[in-house]
Amino acid sequence: MQKSHISHFTANCVTKLFGTLPDGKEVYSYVLSNGNGLEATFINYGATITSLKIADEDGTVTDVVLGFNDIDDYIDAFNLPSAPYFGSVIGRYAGRINKGTFTINNDTYQLNKNHGAHTLHGGNSGFGRAFWQMKQLKGGLNPSIVFTYTSRDGEEQFPGELAIDVTYTLTENNELVVDYTATTTKDTVINLTQHSYFNLDGHAQTVSGQELLVNADKALKLDADNIPTGEFITVKGTAIDFNGGATVPSSIDTSFVLENNDRPAASLYSAKTGLKMTVYTNQPSVHIYVGGNCFGSIHGKESVSYHTTSGICFETQNFPDAPNHAHFPDSVLRKGEQYSHKTRFAFERAK
Ligand code: BGC
Repeated sequence: MQKSHISHFTANCVTKLFGTLPDGKEVYSYVLSNGNGLEATFINYGATITSLKIADEDGTVTDVVLGFNDIDDYIDAFNLPSAPYFGSVIGRYAGRINKGTFTINNDTYQLNKNHGAHTLHGGNSGFGRAFWQMKQLKGGLNPSIVFTYTSRDGEEQFPGELAIDVTYTLTENNELVVDYTATTTKDTVINLTQHSYFNLDGHAQTVSGQELLVNADKALKLDADNIPTGEFITVKGTAIDFNGGATVPSSIDTSFVLENNDRPAASLYSAKTGLKMTVYTNQPSVHIYVGGNCFGSIHGKESVSYHTTSGICFETQNFPDAPNHAHFPDSVLRKGEQYSHKTRFAFERAK
């Protein structure tokens, strides 16, 4: 188990040089602690979460997200056949856009394709590879950090200059809150999410055996290329019915439909550590991802070799390919409007 004995984190913010990008830009790491057992580290490359540590009452610490030790590993991971996007913010559009094309106001756009015939997670150079600026750091019992990035008009061929703020807050109740806001200079499409891989037994372990609950009766039906067909699957009685809680599957890549944002979207529980994470969001979907072909060769932080069940992603978001389906929730951000997405990951000891 990924554990070590250190005393409770005191409320704190620590900034350190993390590494340098090939163009000379300096990437910093920022550690926030809430003084109540939660400590998170972020870097301004991809506005990435590199660690999320939870301390037990006796001081035992579990790092519940996958990540790398240094900046070169984060950069190199984007050159893998299937990049893992460990802990990064995904944008301008999370998930797949069919053939990388869509139409707004009768103008058709052709995005850069980075996934066969399609565009995945924003194209060749999505927000997970972007150099973000650290805009604001606040200490105290509810410490927070704001990262900001301006995506230029035409970046990856998306219309409009998009100005994004992502705020991470650790609350005194042991929640990690992620707030995303954005405005655009031209009507565009947007779908932002967080691509952390969680493991409540620690990042060196397996999520097999942990319990997954997803409050969703429907999921998106996909074609052979994993593109939504526009139809829905009723999950009742199928292998992807997690309404009553079930063991985390060894492989899943599914967008669930959230019909009531007053309820938690999902939760994960480990009987081993007694840790529970509950996910709340104002978004219409949670995309659950485990497995994939990108593991086996990935060496993560603390010399851990990650494998297919090292972690599970809870990507709260709009539906993939929504720009091409009129009956999916609207993915267009209009000039003059503000995009606003809030997701909370709440941690507790349930035993
Ligand atoms: C997608 C997967 C993709 C993975 C890349 C997930 O969000 O749903 O299909 O392979 O990201 O790491």
